[in-house]
Amino acid sequence: MNTRPVITVQLGEWPEFAALATPIRFRVFVDEQKVPADMELDEFDAVSCHALALIGDEPVGTGRLLPDGHIGRMAVLADWRGHGVGAVLLQALIDEAERRGMPRLVLSAQTHALGFYARFGFVPEGDVYEEAGLPHQAMVRRR
Ligand SMILES: CC(C)(COP(=O)(O)OP(=O)(O)OC[C@H]1O[C@@H](n2cnc3c(N)ncnc32)[C@H](O)[C@@H]1OP(=O)(O)O)[C@@H](O)C(=O)NCCC(=O)NCCS
Repeated sequence: MNTRPVITVQLGEWPEFAALATPIRFRVFVDEQKVPADMELDEFDAVSCHALALIGDEPVGTGRLLPDGHIGRMAVLADWRGHGVGAVLLQALIDEAERRGMPRLVLSAQTHALGFYARFGFVPEGDVYEEAGLPHQAMVRRR
């Protein structure tokens, strides 16, 4: 029997999603991962396409696609990880990038998540580096 919850994903712009996506990002990155709070929101939010995942009415995950093909700020609330939310979010952002004709997607992956992104065709490029106090690895996906 498939016990996966029904996940819906919406794509939109920051003014529409800020109130729902910001608390998810702060819980995951600031509270849980101790990323400095002043790094969490930046000037790229205003120009990005944002994805918001919901289970029922509850916002449970978010991510963004920058105009230059960077995917970032992928965050799923801890209680909802491992239920396919991250996969639905990432696929929605990849589909949107393809719809926009972007030939190449790039992301800065926390090293613990390399396997997650690899499932979607992202390939590590270069060395591991530190960003916001956490080890990261650049990954690239070509069409
Ligand atoms: C990384 C993250 C977004 C994944 O979201 P998730 O909802 O737990 O992922 P899913 O349940 O959709 O997993 C999709 C598939 O990837 C696999 N997967 C998930 N996390 C993985 C990981 N860290 N390493 C390897 N595989 C992973 C799952 O097993 C699943 O495989 P399946 O389809 O065979 O069952 C989530 O763990 C998260 O928010 N982490 C904290 C914030 C963070 O570190 N974000 C990444 C910043 S680069």
